[in-house]
Amino acid sequence: DWTMAAYKDEAIRLIREQVGDARVICGLSGGVDSSVAAVLIHEAIGDQLTCVFVDHGLLRQNEAEEVVGMFRDAYNIPLIHADEADLFLGELEGVSDPEVKRKTIGRLFIDVFQREANKIEGASFLAQGTLYPDVIESVSFSGGPSVTIKSHHNVGGLPEKMGLKLVEPLRELFKDEVRALGHELGLPASFIGRHPFPGPGLAIRCPGEITRDKLEILRKADAVYIDQIRKHGLYDEIWQAFVALLPVRTVGVMGDGRTYDYACALRAVTSVDGMTADYYPFSHDFLGETATRIINEVRGINRVTYDITSKPPGTIEWE
Ligand code: XMP
Repeated sequence: DWTMAAYKDEAIRLIREQVGDARVICGLSGGVDSSVAAVLIHEAIGDQLTCVFVDHGLLRQNEAEEVVGMFRDAYNIPLIHADEADLFLGELEGVSDPEVKRKTIGRLFIDVFQREANKIEGASFLAQGTLYPDVIESVSFSGGPSVTIKSHHNVGGLPEKMGLKLVEPLRELFKDEVRALGHELGLPASFIGRHPFPGPGLAIRCPGEITRDKLEILRKADAVYIDQIRKHGLYDEIWQAFVALLPVRTVGVMGDGRTYDYACALRAVTSVDGMTADYYPFSHDFLGETATRIINEVRGINRVTYDITSKPPGTIEWE
């Protein structure tokens, strides 16, 4: 795509012009946006860039290993992996309010990021994979005032606190354009096509209190669900798909025993930019097969439901 090729060259020129000889730190989440930003900036300024990956223990199965493997090993981008699961999960103990979860995670993220970034001498820029929809930030309902539904910005206020200047090379782009840019930068198609994943991670897919046990159950169910979606060739038709582990246990039968385990909800939506979304019309066969697999393969879940709410009035995530 010649337009994106030209955009890439211009973006690289602008990054070099803005940054000069200074060092840049980039928060890497493993998502498409921060990854594309990191690879773009690395192409522009090489080892003047250091990435910091704050692992909050709320990632999906094998996700941390994949991120580290890709950036440190495949791309040779300097990467600090801060494994802080104990810190985050400890502070989240007993927290069930979604906004308190987000704020707690956001605060700890800033602390850890700041601590790690302080170790990088001479850093004067902070890179973020902010997209245009993040810049707009708030959602306006028909006729009503503009309101912010969820506090999405995990690193809000960070640059000011740290005395860093911002580098945001994706600020003018929508998600599909970021993907095109990632393609232009040679990122693998399987990576570019990954569904969006929220900063607070599994914390907001586990309504109510978070425990390590619940997270383990959720990870396993999510892995089975995504495997099903890939096997049926549906992954690229869907904007986002995930399991939410519901904070309710229900009665079931298994063999000649009674079970009393968690219920979960499958979510899958189509969308253009995440601002509005429709639930994905899976076939009944697919849903039945997936429910059977989850119940058979994931100890701790004995009931599977499918969320057929669109956005609005629902949001994509459950919290
Ligand atoms: P909602 O649930 O608001 O989600 O319909 C819209 C898009 O935003 C993602 N999302 C978040 N991303 N921090 C993030 O970085 C958050 O707190 C957050 N909450 C929702 C969601 O996954 C979807 O892609």
